[in-house]
Order: sequence, then C-alpha cells, then structure tokens
Amino acid sequence: MSIVFDQKSSTLSLHTRNSSYQMQIGPLGYLLHTYYGRRCEDFFDYLHLPRDCGFSPNPYTLREGRGFSLDTLPQEYSGSNGADFRLSSLELRTDSGVVGADLHYVSHRILQGKYRLSGLPSSFGDMAETLSVTLADAASGLEVELLYGVFEERDIITRAVRLHNCGTQTVCLEKVASVCLDLPFGPWDRIHFHGRHTMERQPERVPVANGIQTVSSARGASSHQHNPFVILCEPDATEDHGECCGVMLCYSGDHQTDVELDQTGSVRLTAGIGERHFSWRLNPGESFDTPEAFLCFSSEGLTVLSQRYHRFILQNLCRSEWIAWPRPVLLNSWEANYFSFDEDALLRLAREAKDLGVEFFVLDDGWFGHRDDDLSSLGDWYVNPGKLPHGLSALIDRVNDLGLKFGLWVEPEMISEDSDLYRAHPDWALSVPGRQPAISRDQLVLDLSRPEVADWVYETLSTLLRENNIEYIKWDMNRSLSDLYSSSLPPDRQGEVAHRYVLGLYSVLDRITAAYPDVLFEGCAGGGGRFDAGMLAYCPQIWCSDNTDPIARLQIHQGSSYGYPPCTMGAHVSASPNHQTGRSTPFGTRAVVAMAGTFGYELDPAALSPEERAEIRKQIALFHSCSDLLLTGDYYRLTKEGAPYTAWQTVSQDRRRTLVSLVLKTTEGNPKPLHLRFKGLIAEGRYRLAWQRNYGFAGLPGTAESSESTAHEFSGAALMYGGYTFPRIHGDYPSVQLCFELLQDSSADS
Ligand code: GLA
Repeated sequence: MSIVFDQKSSTLSLHTRNSSYQMQIGPLGYLLHTYYGRRCEDFFDYLHLPRDCGFSPNPYTLREGRGFSLDTLPQEYSGSNGADFRLSSLELRTDSGVVGADLHYVSHRILQGKYRLSGLPSSFGDMAETLSVTLADAASGLEVELLYGVFEERDIITRAVRLHNCGTQTVCLEKVASVCLDLPFGPWDRIHFHGRHTMERQPERVPVANGIQTVSSARGASSHQHNPFVILCEPDATEDHGECCGVMLCYSGDHQTDVELDQTGSVRLTAGIGERHFSWRLNPGESFDTPEAFLCFSSEGLTVLSQRYHRFILQNLCRSEWIAWPRPVLLNSWEANYFSFDEDALLRLAREAKDLGVEFFVLDDGWFGHRDDDLSSLGDWYVNPGKLPHGLSALIDRVNDLGLKFGLWVEPEMISEDSDLYRAHPDWALSVPGRQPAISRDQLVLDLSRPEVADWVYETLSTLLRENNIEYIKWDMNRSLSDLYSSSLPPDRQGEVAHRYVLGLYSVLDRITAAYPDVLFEGCAGGGGRFDAGMLAYCPQIWCSDNTDPIARLQIHQGSSYGYPPCTMGAHVSASPNHQTGRSTPFGTRAVVAMAGTFGYELDPAALSPEERAEIRKQIALFHSCSDLLLTGDYYRLTKEGAPYTAWQTVSQDRRRTLVSLVLKTTEGNPKPLHLRFKGLIAEGRYRLAWQRNYGFAGLPGTAESSESTAHEFSGAALMYGGYTFPRIHGDYPSVQLCFELLQDSSADS
C-alpha cells in the first residue's frame, strides 16, 4: 500500500519508493501538511510546534493559549480571507458576498488506480493509487476535493483539485491552485526556466528571497518566457547530491507558480492556472477540475529528479503509441524553402531526402489558401492551387512513391483576416467589442472556447487526415492570446475565456489523436512556446525552438532536460551560417546537437557539398544505431559550472551501453585539458570504446598529438571515478561523440 491512514494520529501518508508525503487532520479539521521528503514511515507532526507569533490570529474556538495559527503552521491547501496571510490556494466570492474560503476536513477515500480529470490531460498507470480528501467551506457551500495520484515506482505524486458547488448560490472562483506545498525548513534555492522566442527554457537558479516570487504566463500558452516547471532545492544541491523537489504543471495555457518565504522562514509554493485572466462561475451542482501537477522529490540531486520526470512522462503521460518508438528521421521543408516552392521544388527536395536516407518528408508552412507569406490564409486548410496544381493527394502519392512518408504543417488555432474563414466567420476571432484586436504575425486567434469552433477545427483536420495519406502533423501556434472575449459567453463569464480556450484545444487534440493513433503529432508554438506536459500528453515530441543554431540549442536542450525527456525535443540539422544567428558551425557538430533530440534535417541538401551529403548518410546510420539508447536511456548532464563546453551522456537501462557527447563553445589558445567523469556505469564492468566521432577534434596540425586516446578498454569505475581526458582540439565549435559498450564477458551482475 502506498497510501496509509493512521487512525490514531489522524495522519495520511503517501509513500513512493524513495519519498514520503504526509498530512494530518489537525484541530477543527484543518488539514496540516507535515512532511515531504525522503521515504520514512514515522509521523512528523512533532516538527510543527504551536507558537504565539504576533499578528498571526487564531481560530475563534482555539484562541486560548494562542498557539494554533493557520498563519504559522504548514497547510495542505491554504484558504483565504481567514487567519492565513500567506499565499492562498483558493480565492472565491459568492453572489451573496462571501469572500474567501475556510477549509475543514470532511472525509477521505483511498482508491486503487489513478483518478482522471474532466476535459484535461492527466497521467495514467494501472499500479497507481488515488487519495481523495474532501474539505468543505461552510459559508460558500463549496466542497474541495484534493486528489493525489501515487506512482510508487516512479517516485512521482500527482495532485489536482476538484471543486463541487454543493451550496445554493453561484460561486465565482478567482484562483484555484492545483497544488499548495509548504516546506517549513529551508533555506531553498529556486530553479526556473525563462526565455524568449528562439531562446527558450534558460535555467536560472536563485535563492528563495523573503516575499513572493512568481513564474507565470498570461499569454494564453505556457509560453517561451516562463515554463510551468519549478524546482526547489537545497542551496548546496548539485546534479548528484542534495534534496530537491520539482513541481511541474500539466497545463498549456496561462499558469502561475508563486513561491513565498514567510516571516517564520517557511516556504510555500502554490501552482496552477494563471490568476490574471481567470475567473469561473460555478453554479450549484456544478464541478470544476484544475489541471494536474506532478511532484517529484529527490534526495540525490537534480539528475535523479530529471530522470524520474523523464520516465514518468514517457510511461505515464503521453498516450501516443509513438512515444515508445524510435523516431523517424525527417526532412522539414521550412528552412530549405520557406514560403517559396512549387510541386517540382518539393519533389526535388523529397528525392534528395530519400537519396540520403531520410524517412519522412515534411511540408511546412505555405501549402494552403493563397499563402505566399505570413499575411494570409490561416483557416483555409485546402491546397494552394498556384503552388500545388495537382492537389495535396497527388503530391503525397509521389512522395510515397519515392519510398518516403509524408508529413504536413498546420496552424489550426489561428485565423488570418485575409482568409475565406474570416470572411465567413469574423466573430470566430478573439476580439473585444468596440476595440481593434492586437495583431501578431498578421494573424488573429480562433475562439476555441466556443465548442462549435473547436468542432470545426476537429472536422477540418479530420478531413485532411482522412482524405490524404498524412503520417505526421506539425501542429503550430504562432502568437500569444490577447483581446480575450468570446461572443458566446455572457459578460460575467468573460473571465473563463482563456481556460475554456485551453479546454477547447485539449478537446480537439484528444479527439484527433484518438481518431488517428498512427499519426505522429509534433507540437510547436513558434518553436518551444508551448513546450509543456499538457501538450506532451498528446504529442510525443515538440519542436524545441525556432533557433536551430546548435550552440544556442545546447543551452535550450540542457534547460529543457531538467523536466522533459530528450526524445521529446524536436531538433534538426540546419544550414550554416545559421539562419537565426548567422553563426557558422561544423556539419558534424550540428548533428551531435540534433541527436540530443528527435534528430532530423531542415535544409536543402542540394546546397551541400558531396562530403556533407555523404556525411548525412553516416549520421542517419549512426542515429539509427543509437535510437533505442537515446529513446529509453537515462540522461545525465555532465557540464561543469563555467566550463567552455556542454557535455551530456545517455546510459542504457541495462547500463551496458553509453553515448557521451561534448561540444566546445569557446576555443582558447593552449587550452586546459578537457576532462569528464562519466556516470551511471557498472563499476565492475569493463567497457570498450565501441566507436568515436570527432568533428574538429583532429589534434593540432604539425604536432605529435593524437586525436585518440591510446586506451580502448576501461572499467566502469575508471570511467566514473578517474574519468576520461579528451584529446586536444581546435577550430570553431568542435565536438565529439564516444560510444562505450560493456564487454560480453564482463561481469554485469551489479
Ligand atoms: C513557426 C515554426 C517554424 C515554422 C514556421 C512556419 O515559426 O516554429 O518551425 O513552421 O512557423 O511559418
């Protein structure tokens, strides 16, 4: 049993293999959070001593002694407008003027299997257990059901909240956090992932400071700017050491994670739907589900935390069959052609791709309506006859005849003013009456909060997929939401538009991925503007960034890897100089970096030299030889603080095989030796250097330096404790890949 109720102490404990989470039903039924940390079967209520803290009130009936205050004791789900002045989990007001919530325990249930959420993606697992704890606020008539999913083997606890209006008046919800987590004894650092278009998920680590620090998006999407994932860790925590705790939201719209360090030194984190554009009217008898949050605790540093999230996302979140399969190598037409192509140009590109060993040919933007630039046609998802006079099916047939599968770009949530769709349904675009809507990339946003618009999107995509042999879809979304107003909702429900939009999006994704389970869906939002667990529930991969520069990508991949598995990160080899940054990099280095993700190409092979084309064949063969390892292996970040390189390693589950990759970002004269310690190997095993690929690693011309280590066999212990010294390198952005394999006769018992 991973969920245990101890009647005597009124304590509910949730145990995973390596962590325990605990709450206690305290005086007056206040639900106190007593512990989240290393696995331990003891009770932790003794830690939280009552204290009379000035200006921290007491519940009316517990006023004697002044020791019990909601303002100082850790809460499982904080109320509002009561005695707790820290971050609230729930803000509401009723039509009769009740403001805030005072939550008391009513009951709990322990259930086999994992709860599901209504209209929202959620994790799944036969072995999971569910805890449901019901709290109630008498004044508003609201019942708050706290839901916990315990994935014992994964070391993940999921949380969500279901509200039931059991009263007689409408309750207007103004904030409903998915999770409230009180960590009373710090100090803690906070790691979050910020960025911008073409520079997503840059990790930033800062001490949690007094007051409230917020990570949020009010852009209608999880955003390039702040990812809905935050880690709290001990200040001395490293990749291999120290306690850390992750909170990842499974949500693709406005989100908000607040972290507050209070007067007592306690840290409270609340996370959920972003507050700025949210309110929801809940009528008597109605329910509301929050998005799910994934909590993970590691006492062994950040690498273990990341690996736990990776496994969980791959095995308990994404429902696509593709999640378990090695990803095909695709060639995407965008950076090869942009908008300027015709059927002949595409077929030439496809022939080149086939000749080089590519498996999928993906036609990006520009194939529909009369779209020759980004000024028109979004919504007109029928073929551009000027470019493809024989139609889409004819093109696909010819691509299929070459022996390639066909993929297509769509941006189904958007509408151009210059489109037949807009001319027919101007009210389908989000805009506030009497105000000109903000334009971004010359496009408006379809109002997916309206069920008929979501249905239209589903039918349109479904027709496209039914009538054409499309085996991959790139689902793009190229602007933030603004001008939130839906003509289908009454004035007092306009605060629901942003969340209803996301529910509309999920309803389309849910239906389309279920109806076409063989299609590989890749998410995208101007690159990684919606790279989150919510999208990963439907899309086994997401285009990581519009920045294809490998050196910029190093940091984007590393940042993303804290929460998300590398095999979900769309990554392509593109032309040099790079189209986004103008930087020139070696061809091999571009492939090394793309192999840190899904691996594919986005360039015109005709513009390459014969040597580079020959190189592509080798790269694809190499990727195939490692694709299982890259899909299922454990990922390690090896980069040391301040190092001139970025390095990472993937180790197979059986630890018999490992691939180490290193890219040098700055080249110096007479550089210090490059040395790394590898991780995750069998100490007693003997590993053979199966192959190595050096790009710019040739040793210095005119010197005796060799590009290869003389030794080719090492114990796992030697590689992990002594490490490996790389040969001296020169040139711009050189890189190396090393693949080690356990010798057959070597002991692998451990
Ligand atoms: C977005 C995507 C790109 C490309 C363009 C097409 O920016 O992220 O990969 O598909 O749209 O317009």
